[in-house]
Amino acid sequence: MSSKNQQYAAFRSIGAYVPEKILTNFDLEKMIDTSDEWIRKRTGIVERRLAADNEYTSDMGAKAAQVAIQRADISKDDIDLVICATATPDYFTMPSTACVISDKLGIHNVQAMDISAACSGFVYSLSVAKAFIESGMKKNVLIIGAEKFSSIVDWNDRGTCILFGDGAGAAVISATDDKGEAFVDVHASADGKYADFLVTPSPGSVNPATHKAIDEGLQYVKMKGNETFKLAVKTLTKDVQEILADNNIDAKDIPHFIPHQANYRIIKAVGDSLGMTEKQVVLTIHKYGNTSAASIPMAINDLYESGGLKYGELMLLDTFGGGLTWASALLPFAGR
Ligand code: ACO
Repeated sequence: MSSKNQQYAAFRSIGAYVPEKILTNFDLEKMIDTSDEWIRKRTGIVERRLAADNEYTSDMGAKAAQVAIQRADISKDDIDLVICATATPDYFTMPSTACVISDKLGIHNVQAMDISAACSGFVYSLSVAKAFIESGMKKNVLIIGAEKFSSIVDWNDRGTCILFGDGAGAAVISATDDKGEAFVDVHASADGKYADFLVTPSPGSVNPATHKAIDEGLQYVKMKGNETFKLAVKTLTKDVQEILADNNIDAKDIPHFIPHQANYRIIKAVGDSLGMTEKQVVLTIHKYGNTSAASIPMAINDLYESGGLKYGELMLLDTFGGGLTWASALLPFAGR
């Protein structure tokens, strides 16, 4: 492709959907042996949102996507690729949640697929959108991070149930020939050596959905919390330092550091390692908990709706999750 025709990926718009129901730490005190004080101190979470029983990952994803499409000022018919990042798909084998969302949006006859990278799914999707656009194969990619974690949480396991929430975020990534509004860089990595740190054992080919599997509670997410915590701090710190160094950008010149919202102590440790001030770090963990692949787009949307995110301002994203997977991205906001 000649440089004249080179297309770059631009982050054109953001949208989100937050379910109505709020579950506070005080509500959890009545359900399990925990306390508001412990949860706030150890995680930074005060409350989280829960989807209604008849509200599914695809419903939340479609609502977030509608907002993103409208803000991108394009028609749904302009979208030529739909990606949904989720660890809690509507169906575990098929159809993909991206197919279900596309149908709910009235988008037909376009490529649609899910990305399975747990909490890192949204940033992984950015890397895929970037590659498709830069290769010239697609022009407008709709990416969605949507999760109904409440559907795989064991409400008797205090090590996990206090952490997660439901919600969705979406973005439109469009082709541009203006290098000034292009993604700067995306890093995405994984190491399956740590697969057992975060697992939902069933259903799957290892543990099909049998009565025995359900009796053993294998349908619930299991996490080695402390081991995951330590590795998250180490890996994220290294990853964000590398993406900044690779692109000769100083942390103090990043107006918006938007990390995955898993634990305030992880965010603080990584922010401190970069010398970030509180003003640079976007926090939503207190009100949404960990919404996995939805957490970063929900946080970007909060910043946007508060009037704090303007065209051309640089965002540094970083995330970590089951797999184990991790990813970071440096990109300007290219919406209005
Ligand atoms: N309430 C009260 N006490 C609790 C609770 C609770 N909800 N949970 C654990 N405890 C207790 C433990 O039993 C333990 O007690 P003990 O000392 O008497 O044995 C003590 O608190 C400390 O337990 P730890 O597990 O060591 O607590 P830690 O400080 O590690 O915090 C937490 C636990 C919040 C889960 C933390 O480890 C964490 O955030 N881990 C990382 C999560 C993450 O980033 N995941 C990746 C993304 S998720 C994804 O990809 C889907």
